[in-house]
Amino acid sequence: MRSRGTTTPHKSRRRAAAALSALILGASLAVAAPGQASAAARVDNPYVGATAYVNPDWSAKAAAEPGGAAIADEPSFVWMDRIAAIDGTPGARGLRAHLDTAVSQGADLFQVVIYNLPGRDCAALASNGELGPTELDRYKNDYVDPIAEILGDPAYASLRIVTLIEPDSLPNLVTNAGGTAGSTPECATMKANGNYEKGIGYALHTLGAIPNVYNYVDAAHHGWLGWDSNFVPAAEQFKKAATTEGATVTDVHGFIVNTANYSALKEPHFAVTDSVNGTTVRQSRWVDWNYYVDELSFAQALRTEMVRQGFASDLGMLIDTARNGWGGSDRPAGPGPRTGVDAYVDGGRTDRRIHAGNWCNQSGAGIGERPTTAPEPGIDAYVWAKPPGESDGSSEPVDNDEGKGFDRMCDPTYTGNGRNGFNLTGALPDSPVAGHWFSGQFQELLRNAHPPLD
Ligand code: BGC
Repeated sequence: MRSRGTTTPHKSRRRAAAALSALILGASLAVAAPGQASAAARVDNPYVGATAYVNPDWSAKAAAEPGGAAIADEPSFVWMDRIAAIDGTPGARGLRAHLDTAVSQGADLFQVVIYNLPGRDCAALASNGELGPTELDRYKNDYVDPIAEILGDPAYASLRIVTLIEPDSLPNLVTNAGGTAGSTPECATMKANGNYEKGIGYALHTLGAIPNVYNYVDAAHHGWLGWDSNFVPAAEQFKKAATTEGATVTDVHGFIVNTANYSALKEPHFAVTDSVNGTTVRQSRWVDWNYYVDELSFAQALRTEMVRQGFASDLGMLIDTARNGWGGSDRPAGPGPRTGVDAYVDGGRTDRRIHAGNWCNQSGAGIGERPTTAPEPGIDAYVWAKPPGESDGSSEPVDNDEGKGFDRMCDPTYTGNGRNGFNLTGALPDSPVAGHWFSGQFQELLRNAHPPLD
């Protein structure tokens, strides 16, 4: 267990309801399967007191890298990124095998990403996925249902199972589905056919019926939803999906920000409220009128907004800190000069991306905070959702049978699109297909770790 600090104790109706259903299920299990562990009541923060599963497949790859042993025993999420991943693919064990290994490890928390929506990744190509825009039935029957059957097996009732629901999908409906520079016809299609919302509602409802599952919905990052024109519309979009296809807000345990992204956890050398010679940092080129400059402030504000939208008052947030460390020799030691607002922000910011819309295999990035329980108010945990060393996408087209396309945001020579303000991509060269091991990036992440590695 890597616990730091304590959670604020919350009491809620939801907890009482969860306890009741667990009691009923526990009772029926006791009859149906004597001797097997019964499901425990859902707790406010599943990470408290829990030892999380370390994926041995990822761990072996990390440990085989020079210096990788420093982080090879950290827990990270297992990605169910296609139907075949459920049974296992060459080099990656299936869901049951992961869960069995978790039980034999003595872990009591398991983290899994649900990532296979119809028309997936509508504003990018690197992780387009296997299901076409209209294949909602396959998503439900061949993907969500088999996963639910496995997660609901009494053999895993002693595990707290954290699910990360569908990275990037609902945020794409908010900002990239029409009327903006970054919009794509693919996102407009998914908004019009409602299959992201229906798929997510179905997943929340189906997985939320399992008493030891804790659903966390993906909520992008501050550099995506931090503007007021996106923030409340996104919250409303999350609410809409969470009340579709039988789901209710009680199926959502919390939200996760910065999944597989690089936004800094805390910018220590400037605040959004600072100004330089009478000009607010919101007007700097980097901040560009955003209301947030880092993930912790964004996550806490989003939590407040989601409660206001009707989600449980004890909602918990997760932050993916796998790759947002921004340490190493180029990390600024203090604020930039007050000669102008851009000099001040650019001289002091630790996130050294060319543009906050850059997302693929970022040059200069480092390992971030190690997974930590209840680090700050409202935050259930810092987690590693994207396993460090796994590529975000290939820097050139590569044939594959995983539904992975070629997105030029992964090509270091590309000069960008409307979603990154037509800037260079900042991607590392020579990267493999999304999800495949990328030794060069792993080494870069180790070099630039912040906090530094022990
Ligand atoms: C890829 C998945 C992979 C995941 C974790 C995603 O970008 O599309 O195939 O499992 O990253 O590395």
